[in-house]
Amino acid sequence: MYDTHKSYAENYIYGPFPDLLKSKILPKVHFKGPPQFEFLGIPLFIPFGVPAGPLLNSKFVSAALDAGFCVPTYKTVRSCSWESHKWPNIVKIHTQDDKQIFSSTPLPSVTGSLFKPKTYEDLSLSISNSFGVPSQIPDIWSQDFKQLNDREQYKGQHIVLSFQATAGDHHLLEDLENICHLAAQTISETKYCLLEINLSCPNESNEPIYKSQKDTLNVLKRAHSILQSYKNIKLIAKIGAMDFDSTHAFLSETGPYVNAISAINTVASNILDENNKVILGSGTQTGGVCGSAILSQGLLMCEYLAMSREKCGVKSNELGLVGVGGVSEATHFRNYIDAGADLVQAATGMMWNFELARQVAHSLGVHTS
Ligand SMILES: Cc1cc2nc3c(=O)[nH]c(=O)nc-3n(C[C@H](O)[C@H](O)[C@H](O)COP(=O)(O)O)c2cc1C
Repeated sequence: MYDTHKSYAENYIYGPFPDLLKSKILPKVHFKGPPQFEFLGIPLFIPFGVPAGPLLNSKFVSAALDAGFCVPTYKTVRSCSWESHKWPNIVKIHTQDDKQIFSSTPLPSVTGSLFKPKTYEDLSLSISNSFGVPSQIPDIWSQDFKQLNDREQYKGQHIVLSFQATAGDHHLLEDLENICHLAAQTISETKYCLLEINLSCPNESNEPIYKSQKDTLNVLKRAHSILQSYKNIKLIAKIGAMDFDSTHAFLSETGPYVNAISAINTVASNILDENNKVILGSGTQTGGVCGSAILSQGLLMCEYLAMSREKCGVKSNELGLVGVGGVSEATHFRNYIDAGADLVQAATGMMWNFELARQVAHSLGVHTS
């Protein structure tokens, strides 16, 4: 549904592209009966959705809702217009002997190659994601997001709006206040209530915010206090992989300021082509890897978060866990639930298999037509 041979702007305007799916059509899934699941008290037909990124605008989010993804996330927005990195942004990733990769220093090294145009791909693939979090100006994304309020079928589906602060010319915390108000104002004019703050973007400083306990606390305390002035908004913090001690420190310190934690974002890696040349349009060899190769890292992080939540004596209705990373089959969804996730989301897996939500529904015994 995302054409890797087109620029981000072309995908934004003309996508989603059904001809890149095996079925060649965007599926329509109807759930039978009332929703039997929930996340943070929100009823859901299935606790499965799409994380921030591949759903670029309301057309993409609508297509994902139609396909049965019950918690799709509207791509991370900023307080200002922000250009995408140059094409190519998405390349196919190969790891040595098809091994799983884990977040590490030095970064894991992987090989990237361009996708063959108009070819249907193997479902268990890994990709790079090197966009630099592009954004439209607030007037555009806000109006576009609010259009999703007109959809009627929403008893068991709910949309998340993802946002992040921009360092740029401003101080990060000043911009945070700005974008937090813009996102909260937008969502409060709809029937949705889930906002996600992306703390795992490597572009805003040398390291993603979540890696600094001090910065994370500053940002989340500020966001939490701003959101108090809006009715019923729930905040999800999106982070990347950490070891258990850092995860526990993160969860125990930040738990009071968020309603849920989502992990993981991509695994930062060195990506070169088979001739050892930079392949990403950003012009750097560092990029995030997502898809199949990060499944084990995502599951490990989910286990750490669940263990930490239990250690803190916190319940899932007080602090939800969103499991993300490498889900391309219904069994992976089950692996995340077993690891302690309350909600599971798939980005890469969804991009090439739009039937994934229906497959997860069937694995749960939820009837669809
Ligand atoms: C095309 C694409 C764009 C992405 N953009 C964002 C983004 O803007 N904000 C964000 O928090 N994560 C972004 N991500 C990361 C995903 O939300 C997710 O954490 C990551 O891809 C791992 O999930 P996966 O293995 O199912 O792809 C993006 C991922 C992809 C594939």
